[in-house]
Amino acid sequence: MTPVPVAVLVSGSGTNLQALLDALRDSPVARVARVVASRADAGALERARRAGVSTVVLAHPDDPGEVVTATGDARLVVLAGYLKRIPPAAVARLRWRLINIHPALLPAFGGPGMYGRRVHEAVLASGATLSGATVHYVDEEYDRGPIIAQWPVPVRRDDTPEILAARVLEVEHRLLPQVVEALARLGVPGEPVRLFPKSSVFITGDNLAVDLDTAADGRTGERADR
Ligand code: GRF
Repeated sequence: MTPVPVAVLVSGSGTNLQALLDALRDSPVARVARVVASRADAGALERARRAGVSTVVLAHPDDPGEVVTATGDARLVVLAGYLKRIPPAAVARLRWRLINIHPALLPAFGGPGMYGRRVHEAVLASGATLSGATVHYVDEEYDRGPIIAQWPVPVRRDDTPEILAARVLEVEHRLLPQVVEALARLGVPGEPVRLFPKSSVFITGDNLAVDLDTAADGRTGERADR
């Protein structure tokens, strides 16, 4: 099998990009083929260069043609800390091939302006005892596209936004590569897929585990009803 080429869109430091680069380095199913940044000073660009992956900096992130062209021959496009809106015409061109990772359990704590620290502040203010990470398809509305996979993270009483963010980020780094590999194995289907945890999703003791049922043959990855 030729690894599915993946484009990763970034704006920030790129720790999720790093998780993908590390996890897919020797993967037979998917590889990071290029990294597209909305700004030239994104730390993620350095990570891409270090890994020998080609990079593009968008001059006009609101130009749909430029965004689609920048993704090259990628069959799957991943937003990993990408802070610009994907123009609707580009969303349409990349339908069911464009995914995002969000640091909370959508549909709660998402939408315009809900990124970075604000997400975790809102979770703490709500009194929720669970947060988590969500990987979802990107559609024309912020954080509203069909959900592919989620993983919960406990919210502790003495958490600060930074402490909660770090706990969620650790899970993001495990969840995102699993989802990317699963979608690649399924051949990047032209309709939404849902992936489920293999068993209990809760952390036992201090052991962090993220273990999706990402069937290699595509039979268990369920196509989601829309
Ligand atoms: C992550 O929390 C991700 O969920 C959100 O932006 C953050 C990106 O962090 N979309 P990094 O640039 O991958 O370190």
